[in-house]
Amino acid sequence: MASCLAPPLLLLLLLGSPSAVAPNRCVDAADACTADARCQRLRTAYVVQCLGPAAPGSCPRARCRRALRRFFARGPPELTHALLFCPCGGPACAERRRQTFVPSCAFSGPEPAPPSCLAPLDACEHSRVCRPTYLTFQASCAPAPSNLDGCLRDQIPSCLRAYAGLVGTAVTPNYVDNASARVAPWCDCGASGNRREECEVFRGLFTRNRCLDRAIQAFDGRWPSVLHDQLDPHQDPEHSLLQVSSADASLEGSSMLSVLPVLVLQPLL
Ligand SMILES: *[C@@H]1O[C@H](CO)[C@@H](O)[C@H](O)[C@H]1NC(C)=O
Repeated sequence: MASCLAPPLLLLLLLGSPSAVAPNRCVDAADACTADARCQRLRTAYVVQCLGPAAPGSCPRARCRRALRRFFARGPPELTHALLFCPCGGPACAERRRQTFVPSCAFSGPEPAPPSCLAPLDACEHSRVCRPTYLTFQASCAPAPSNLDGCLRDQIPSCLRAYAGLVGTAVTPNYVDNASARVAPWCDCGASGNRREECEVFRGLFTRNRCLDRAIQAFDGRWPSVLHDQLDPHQDPEHSLLQVSSADASLEGSSMLSVLPVLVLQPLL
């Protein structure tokens, strides 16, 4: 279907016109990523993987997660973090934020119900990719006991960085709904037997962590200035034309395969 679309329509879909509707910072963040060659290339790479078919009803989850880790490891942090922590005032924005990383593949997987949190925790402890990332997250987002606010001010950037580092690991977290900024990995502690407490402590690092909550909220005030510049709605038309023609040039050289997933994801991103 998408292969019938003429390039100008593709461009319209890719570039969108977010300033015409209610402000949605997750849309702004997606547009800023699209406008940056490296961010766009790395995002397209994970989208291709995460929407790719494996077995029927499944997806190549390991490849999807690897591409996500690469997105955060190699993408420009001000753009990748804007996608992950875009502050939302309503459900449309929050739903888009929740869908950003193709959670059906990267996060929840094919199982209908979440597993016990002991499963991702044990997998992480045995993974040389996940374990150090998780230890860093634990240390960086540990609530400061002396601080009612949750974490120390200069702890916030490292907590956000450490959280982003978990995306694509065995303990990939995501927003739990579109009505809040609460996050959790895809698991619960219902069936954790005599390791219930260990399970709750692990899950609580995400669901009852004042420092992490505070850091995610604080991203609003740290909204990257690069996005203000890039997405100024009053930008002169010449600037927009330049953007279109450079996108045009890069599309010509790229295969439909690399464009298609962006189209598919466009309503979500
Ligand atoms: C928010 O989530 C609910 C429950 O999953 C869903 O029914 C609703 O369509 C979502 N809202 C938006 C704007 O996507």
